[in-house]
Amino acid sequence: MQSSDLDTFKDWFSQYTHTFYTDNAEDRRNIDLKVRHTFFVCENIVGIAKKEHLSDNDLMIAETAALFHDLGRFLQYSLYKTFRDSISVNHGRLGAEILDKENILRHLRLHERQLIMNTVRFHNAFEVPSFEDQQNVLFLKLIRDADKLDIWRIFAEYYESPDDKQASAVGLGLPDLPDYSKTVLSCLYEKKLATLSDLKTLNDFKLMQLSWVYDLNFRHSFRLMAERAYIQKIADALPQIEEITGAISIIKKFVHEKAEVKLNQGIEL
Ligand SMILES: [Fe+2]
Repeated sequence: MQSSDLDTFKDWFSQYTHTFYTDNAEDRRNIDLKVRHTFFVCENIVGIAKKEHLSDNDLMIAETAALFHDLGRFLQYSLYKTFRDSISVNHGRLGAEILDKENILRHLRLHERQLIMNTVRFHNAFEVPSFEDQQNVLFLKLIRDADKLDIWRIFAEYYESPDDKQASAVGLGLPDLPDYSKTVLSCLYEKKLATLSDLKTLNDFKLMQLSWVYDLNFRHSFRLMAERAYIQKIADALPQIEEITGAISIIKKFVHEKAEVKLNQGIEL
């Protein structure tokens, strides 16, 4: 693909997303959140992909996939007023359908189109589906890391900001109660991903976000996570009790090891 293709895609994305802004301040915040998220995911994916020494063409494919990865979010929000797939629609699949219907990628080679479509369609799957095409697996791993890194940014900001400045759909409508689920917390100790269906409170959601470190793929992603101190920011928003702080220590140690950051290097997690 050409760099002019990427410019065309960016223009199209900007025009498309503009059509979803309404006079309602809450809707605007939610749409804006996803537009900004998209740009940060693009930045993250290019950063990680460069460290993995991808070719210039692959870098552009990765950036295109990032640009369109949440395309389904806009229609999802406008139809259902939520970002919760389980009560609305699978936004990865919806995004791929929109790309297909609008025929946005028509000038690209078939293989490039397939890579982008599959990356969009499966970016939000619980785990990376098994593809014979290893390049497809690579792009999915890249988008999932780039996406998680920016979701952590959004949550860190969300938990720190006053209620009236928050984009309401971020917390998935979960009640902000002091309780948390032992099942979700145990995932942090067992080093596995927590499942969305186990969430009952906002605290569960925070714990699940922390469990995502066990699904990061690239060393640079761990480094970015460490540099941006996302773990501590989310941990600060959780109840300060031993059962939870113990899990936070395990996660920090895991990230330190994966990032190959020595504790005395001055990087705070
Ligand atoms: Fe997404």
